[in-house]
Amino acid sequence: MSNPVYLALDIPQLEPAKALLTKVKSHIGGVKLGLEFFCAHGSHGVHEIAHLGLPIFLDLKFHDIPNTVAAAMQAIHVYQPAIVTVHAAGGRAMMEDAKAAAAAGTKVVAVTMLTSLDTNDLTATGVYGSAETQVMRLAELAHAAGLDGIVCSGQEVGMVKKAWKDGYFVVPGLRPAGGGTGDQKRVVTPRQARDNGASVLVIGRPISRAEDPVAAARAIEATL
Ligand code: C5P
Repeated sequence: MSNPVYLALDIPQLEPAKALLTKVKSHIGGVKLGLEFFCAHGSHGVHEIAHLGLPIFLDLKFHDIPNTVAAAMQAIHVYQPAIVTVHAAGGRAMMEDAKAAAAAGTKVVAVTMLTSLDTNDLTATGVYGSAETQVMRLAELAHAAGLDGIVCSGQEVGMVKKAWKDGYFVVPGLRPAGGGTGDQKRVVTPRQARDNGASVLVIGRPISRAEDPVAAARAIEATL
């Protein structure tokens, strides 16, 4: 089985990001590049990272009218991303068109509800009911739209997998046993998330901010 760990490369400068990746690359399965990275380093940055040979997860969270999202999806074929994110709240037609426009080898996964939002935030946008109800509703919509899976927490993945058996589940917010949790609240270990059904484990600071990132990545790999 290939290594499910994708390193979240949340490092503002390109050269240190490349240096870190070069060091740890044989102990991870891929690399996640987010909006900050893409806005700061653009196409050049993505190509530089891609040259290091790992699968790329472009976490750009597309959310716009179907035509625009489909065109953006076409525009990123050039990077041959392994995984791309869209917002489920963009609606069924947007997700269908996103999937149709994605390259054959690209998994398109939906963000349901940002973990920075709570029930009050939902109410303020006119969405009544619990956060959990909203997550399940959007997960079902993503499934119906033909997406490959969703982004969810290590605690939710077991529940979602029951309803979506062959779904592709991307799980962030992971912390190795014994490590600090930082600003992440509902954390599980990489091994627990994998056992609960995660397909991809997104891990950032436990590797990137470790005193010895190679040892940290190795230790995580050994638990899986
Ligand atoms: O450093 P850490 O392991 O917390 O990084 C996790 C990565 O996953 C970051 O890029 C963060 O933005 C992302 N993420 C998250 N929690 C979510 C969704 C995405 O931590 N619910």
